Amino acid sequence: MPAATPEPESAESAGYQDVEDSAATGAGRAWWDANAGEYLDEHGAFLGPADFVWCPEGLREADAGLLGDVTGARVLEIGAGAAQCSRWLASRGVEVVATDVAEGMLHAGLGYDEAAGVRTPLVVADARELPFPDASFDVAFTAYGAIPFVPDADRVHREVARVLRPGGRWVFSVTHPIRWAFPDDPSERGLTAVRPYFDRRPYVEIGGSGRVLYAEYHRTLGDHVAELVGAGFVLDRLVEPEWPEGHDAVWGGWSPLRGALLPGTAIFVTHRRPG
Ligand SMILES: C[S@@+](CC[C@H](N)C(=O)[O-])C[C@H]1O[C@@H](n2cnc3c(N)ncnc32)[C@H](O)[C@@H]1O
Repeated sequence: MPAATPEPESAESAGYQDVEDSAATGAGRAWWDANAGEYLDEHGAFLGPADFVWCPEGLREADAGLLGDVTGARVLEIGAGAAQCSRWLASRGVEVVATDVAEGMLHAGLGYDEAAGVRTPLVVADARELPFPDASFDVAFTAYGAIPFVPDADRVHREVARVLRPGGRWVFSVTHPIRWAFPDDPSERGLTAVRPYFDRRPYVEIGGSGRVLYAEYHRTLGDHVAELVGAGFVLDRLVEPEWPEGHDAVWGGWSPLRGALLPGTAIFVTHRRPG
């Protein structure tokens, strides 16, 4: 049973600063629980109730095939949110389990299940402590889930490696690390680098009580690769989706203007080292 969600509190300050790992960890679940409705009001139509979209550039698994052939595979989604990607897989007969640390996000998925007429298995779980046996999945993935919101993403990779069979595939998308150097702004202002790419201090929002309400972590491309290799993965591809012609959606700092000049998403396609 997850712990009770703290009372909502508004942010008094925001910026880049180190905070205790334990404070950021608590913030992850509480923020997404409290903001599930707002997130889905803003992005739900773009994501679709049962569609598999990797990123604001609109790259779809149906076109990209980054998971490979999942016929007969057991698939795990972490940081699934309302489980749209898993629902898309389930609607194609794939055996999939969608997990997320925030019950509020998964709960929204129940309504989508009803609308889509699909039952998607949903499990509340921190991606760093998955309630599954060793080597119980063939494929694991997340679209922007979990990794940016934990101080210790190496733990996510190690846990995913544990539940994957040797040779199993692990694919995840995150904000392209280069974006950290730029303001998160879809306009011209977002085109000028203002921060060191190498500054790993997280972006945090802090409430009047001093509680960390939101934390988002930056890793350079090299950091991601080091964490993956350290957890026993082999990097097969690094996909940097280009902004498609005619795609005019704006999602936070992602826009046609910036997409024409800068990568916005990095997708790591990896597999667990056999043996
Ligand atoms: C940007 S949303 C992405 C959700 C979904 N994949 C999508 O594309 O809409 C990030 C998700 O990561 C989840 N998350 C944050 N920290 C997590 C953790 N430690 N373990 C599992 N999920 C986590 C949040 O609850 C949230 O649902």
